[in-house]
Amino acid sequence: MTVNTLEALSVTPSGKALGAEVSGVDFAQPAPDDVRDAIMAAWADHLVLLFRGLSLNDDQLLETAGLFGGQQVAGSRDYFVKAGFKPGETNNVATRPGVSIITNLGDDGKLVRQKSAFGNLPLKWHSDNSYVEVPPTGSLLHAHVVPVDGGGETSFSNQYLAYDALSDGLKQVLDGMRAWHAGDVFARNGGYDADALPRSLHPVIRTHPETGRKALFVNSVYTTCFEGMSEAESRPLIDYLCSHAVQPNFTFRHQWRTGDMLMWDNRCLQHFGVADYGLQPRTMHRVTIKGEKPV
Ligand code: OGA
Ligand code: MN
Repeated sequence: MTVNTLEALSVTPSGKALGAEVSGVDFAQPAPDDVRDAIMAAWADHLVLLFRGLSLNDDQLLETAGLFGGQQVAGSRDYFVKAGFKPGETNNVATRPGVSIITNLGDDGKLVRQKSAFGNLPLKWHSDNSYVEVPPTGSLLHAHVVPVDGGGETSFSNQYLAYDALSDGLKQVLDGMRAWHAGDVFARNGGYDADALPRSLHPVIRTHPETGRKALFVNSVYTTCFEGMSEAESRPLIDYLCSHAVQPNFTFRHQWRTGDMLMWDNRCLQHFGVADYGLQPRTMHRVTIKGEKPV
């Protein structure tokens, strides 16, 4: 089967709100610029792209991130290491820089209860690492082991739609406002110093550099308060925005098969992994794509 040519490439939307399946691509083989550009265009249109039947090793996953803007090496891994983690000690610090292994299996292949919140993914809606100054543009998640009896889907919500659906009055209030995003809660849940992870100030409404569209950029895991306001003052509006942001008609849920790779855009999406698979093994490898400062 021919792959990685414009003729072989096809894009089929998977949900009304977002998502598309891209076939005719194999990132284990070189992808020419025109194919890369076509994928980038589909990504801008559909926000989450699904590639099925891949079998990429970590080097190939890193190279794939390279194709779409470069891997974000200095991501949270650096902070985890600074916070005292040894590579391999927690599931989120892979032995290879730039790759996170998200799994409920230990090194011996047996199921483990996650030791810390760092090893656990945030079980709420979020945009990856939004507490850093330059959060990743996108994330690549490649399914190695999926729950055999189902579950463990990943849910996405389109934050362009969330912005569009706000009233003109609230859009005006929010435009120009900034909010603090902090890794505190995430760190504290893991029993680490709240300062283990940084805090950053980002616009509440950000403009996507490729599409020029505005998206709501507030999430329930990391956003703590608005600039110049207390947490208590900010909480009601942050809570309102977080629940507004994930209405069913903005969302799409992906049911994983082994070999799937999703590429999602953190600039205009929130996501979370549904933790409904009990003790069934599930292992994903993740690489984040280098970001830009939200504006
Ligand atoms: C992530 C994430 C969810 C999942 O990798 O950033 O949130 O379903 N994953 O594994
Ligand atoms: Mn995530």
